[in-house]
Amino acid sequence: MATKTTKKSAKREKVVLAYSGGLDTSVDIHWLKDKYNLDVIAVALNVGQPPSEDDIVARALRNGAVKAEFVDVRKDFVENYIWPEVKANGLYQDIYPLSTAIARPVMAKKLVEIAHREGAKYIAHGSTGKGNDQVRFDAGIVAQDPELKIIAPQREWVVSRDEEIDYAAAHGIEIKAKKNSPYSRDENLWGASCECGLLEDAWNEPPAGVWILTVDPTKAPDTPAYVEIGFEKGVPVSLNGKKMDGVALIEKLDEIAGENGVGRIDHVEDRLVGIKSRETYECPAATVIISAHRSLEAMTLQRDVIEFKRIMEQKFCQLVYDGQWFGGLREPVNAFIDSTQQFVTGTIRMKLYKGSCTCVGRKSPHSLYDTGLATYSKGDTFDHKAAMGFIYVWGLPDQTAARAHVVPAKCTKKTAKTSAKKTATKKSKKQ
Ligand code: ARG
Repeated sequence: MATKTTKKSAKREKVVLAYSGGLDTSVDIHWLKDKYNLDVIAVALNVGQPPSEDDIVARALRNGAVKAEFVDVRKDFVENYIWPEVKANGLYQDIYPLSTAIARPVMAKKLVEIAHREGAKYIAHGSTGKGNDQVRFDAGIVAQDPELKIIAPQREWVVSRDEEIDYAAAHGIEIKAKKNSPYSRDENLWGASCECGLLEDAWNEPPAGVWILTVDPTKAPDTPAYVEIGFEKGVPVSLNGKKMDGVALIEKLDEIAGENGVGRIDHVEDRLVGIKSRETYECPAATVIISAHRSLEAMTLQRDVIEFKRIMEQKFCQLVYDGQWFGGLREPVNAFIDSTQQFVTGTIRMKLYKGSCTCVGRKSPHSLYDTGLATYSKGDTFDHKAAMGFIYVWGLPDQTAARAHVVPAKCTKKTAKTSAKKTATKKSKKQ
């Protein structure tokens, strides 16, 4: 952790700013001082995105922060947020590995921690008023400390990018020279998100410039790459037979999967704020790991567990997406999911080829796959005769119902005769 301080100003309230080093939060330092008369403590949280430590801390101070620090939270991010997501096979709307969403609670937690340490009453972040991230920060922060006040300058002070650049020039704010990209991006260890520009027309195929982590699948190598991921109780612990810590494992797998064009996602997604938005994601490692984890569960969990867990997985994804990490339901949901992972240990071999990723091999000391029971060849241990008895009992309710609900045409001869007789008796009684 690197912390630097400038000369202390006269007693003013403090605000902890989630500082990304980009245009918005650079301008925010000045705006928070100017508009709110606050001392700004800029905190750059490293969740696996560029840029470098020295650059960002020094720049925050030059731009007027009283204190700036760079905190590497990658280990915490992987172990306490990404791994629980992997255990939950976390794909929002069955497709988005929550790469942006899952980083927000670890950031919210660190910001609150720093606000407490610094005695700050305010936390500021650069999210806009249209997205999910504002919800995740705000709800995450107040759930930890309801006394903290949140300021989101880009929500209060809605100006265009050009106006922000003019503001920066007028106030001597140093902004990092950046190519004027038509896209809005977010990037961390678990993946990259991209929206705006040509993507706003949902009929447009994502142009090549959208992709930053993956090779175009048509240009990927002509021979497949194989990776073996070792899991212990649902958590990835090794890559190609080598024990690795989570950060290194994800980084390495990102590289291999990215080279093979794996992990591109193009989706029209439902935001919490009621908007459908078209976004692309690149999550090479996440795509491979979640798919491998699911394959291992297929071998080690019983069917009813897999089916019921699916409901909890969807709930988990929704809680993460909707910014309810610190709410009352997330921990119990995780506790359930954790309890299913006791035997999710083993190795999965994935084949990566021109954008596809397929499980082609699996083994586990707790495998429920029994070749003796499964085989159609020699060594069959399945009791075929028992199947008849089982099917008799299994089919019994439906058989019974079929008898009871017989269609009139069939049932009928007897029934028809009986009712004919009854009518005749009635008639004769009348006479
Ligand atoms: N829609 C995604 C989410 O809410 C990602 C948003 C990322 N932001 C961006 N500027 N592309 O999790």
